[in-house]
Amino acid sequence: MKKQLEQIGKEIWIYDGSTVNFYGFPFPTRMTVIRLRNGNLWVHSPEKLNINLKNELAALGKVKYLISPNKLHHLFLSEWITEYPEAILYAETALFSKRKDIKFDAELTEKAEAEWSEEIYQTIFRGSPAMEEVVFFHVLSSTLILTDLIENFDPNTLNWWQKLLAQFAGILYPKGKTPLDWRLTFVFGDKVKARKSLVTLLSWEPKNIVISHGECVLGEASDFLKSSFSWLQKNAQ
Ligand SMILES: [Fe+2]
Repeated sequence: MKKQLEQIGKEIWIYDGSTVNFYGFPFPTRMTVIRLRNGNLWVHSPEKLNINLKNELAALGKVKYLISPNKLHHLFLSEWITEYPEAILYAETALFSKRKDIKFDAELTEKAEAEWSEEIYQTIFRGSPAMEEVVFFHVLSSTLILTDLIENFDPNTLNWWQKLLAQFAGILYPKGKTPLDWRLTFVFGDKVKARKSLVTLLSWEPKNIVISHGECVLGEASDFLKSSFSWLQKNAQ
């Protein structure tokens, strides 16, 4: 049986979920698991559960924190709450009104929760009127954890028109970036705020970047981060 969780650094694992069909475009999906010093598991963007995944998680530690980092990543929360009733569910602000059927325990803010603030830093990537995303940095593994802020699709998984579309949207490996539709919304928002958010991300000097859709960047991630966000430079469109 293929292992569900793949360890990518000290106390950090990723799990690739199913590929979602989005208007004919195949979206690979990914969640990230961090084991805190006290043995509790912190789960970012929970994927659909299965028995093997549950067993591997149980072997790692206790599922304690469920993290829903932006308003688009919420699909499997209900089954996780049922499976792990003692877990605490944190979500980005916009989800509270979008998913009224779910009882969220706490809002994710600029300030990391005391339960993980020494091990995981966090900030909110601001500046777009369309969507904000809570971004995390796992100190021990020097890993930046993004959700949709960078997408980086493997061309080998795409047909010719999907490749063209991905290139046009700026989300084709190895030059993945924020998808075009979201990037455009910053024009109507506040690029100064967005640049401030980016400065925080860069200040963490990540060695690795884990993203929810596409190829992660393992090693030398700071340079990738700078070029991926070149669209936010002062003279860029
Ligand atoms: Fe997404």
